[in-house]
Amino acid sequence: NKKKLVIAMDGPAGAGKSTVARLVAKKMNYTYIDTGSMYRAVAWKVLKEDKGASKTAILDVLKNIQLQLKYGNDKVLVFMDEFDITEQIRTPEVTGLVSKVAQIGEVRAKMVNLQQNMALNGGVVMDGRDICTHVLPNAEIKVFLTASIEERAMRRWKELKNKGYEIGLKELQLEIAARDKADSEREISPLIQAKDAVLIDTTNMSIHEAVDSIIKLCERA
Ligand code: CDP
Ligand code: CDP
Repeated sequence: NKKKLVIAMDGPAGAGKSTVARLVAKKMNYTYIDTGSMYRAVAWKVLKEDKGASKTAILDVLKNIQLQLKYGNDKVLVFMDEFDITEQIRTPEVTGLVSKVAQIGEVRAKMVNLQQNMALNGGVVMDGRDICTHVLPNAEIKVFLTASIEERAMRRWKELKNKGYEIGLKELQLEIAARDKADSEREISPLIQAKDAVLIDTTNMSIHEAVDSIIKLCERA
């Protein structure tokens, strides 16, 4: 009965975007699109090809890329050349390379094109760094989700610990700060709050509260 909305969400690492976006999508019966996973998949393939991370090597990888997002129950699966790489794209090695890969114009152009096609019929929640500002400027709902760097590092630390990675909290905070800086200062579509995006600071907010505030925005739209 209701028009299917397009919900766009940007913000820095560990703000809670993917957790919140996934839950909003579930409540609305929409599709969740994690654009960070797409840049991670490219970085993963660059590492796998093992020909270095020069621009030439990255463009070479980009030429033959077969990237697909598939929807399992509750989970987005990332496929590269028919292989499920959903888990592999979350390693510290991939995280360490992804912002460099994401700075390249040709990489962004290809990913943005795929992302815009996925949103053509509405009913999507898409999160990333340039979704409100560049990928989906006409989205009905725009959110900039953030939290303090200390809180974001702590969240990531807990998450990694649960997966068996023991990283120092301080080290992780520096890694996240470096990635925020690279993402915010790059030339093409940097991470920035869109003028018309609603700011939600989740530093002292539960996941449930953040989800609720976005659902309220949808009800008003
Ligand atoms: O989950 P986490 O916040 O660590 O990062 P992500 O959302 O998986 O994104 C990984 C990286 O991809 C970011 O640090 C950006 O460099 C890049 N990215 C981007 O440039 N544009 C997007 N729309 C999404 C991610
Ligand atoms: O996608 P993004 O990097 O922005 O963050 P995320 O991967 O969704 O969230 C990072 C971690 O913070 C997850 O383990 C969430 O469960 C947790 N989180 C939280 O504790 N409180 C919130 N309000 C939001 C997320």
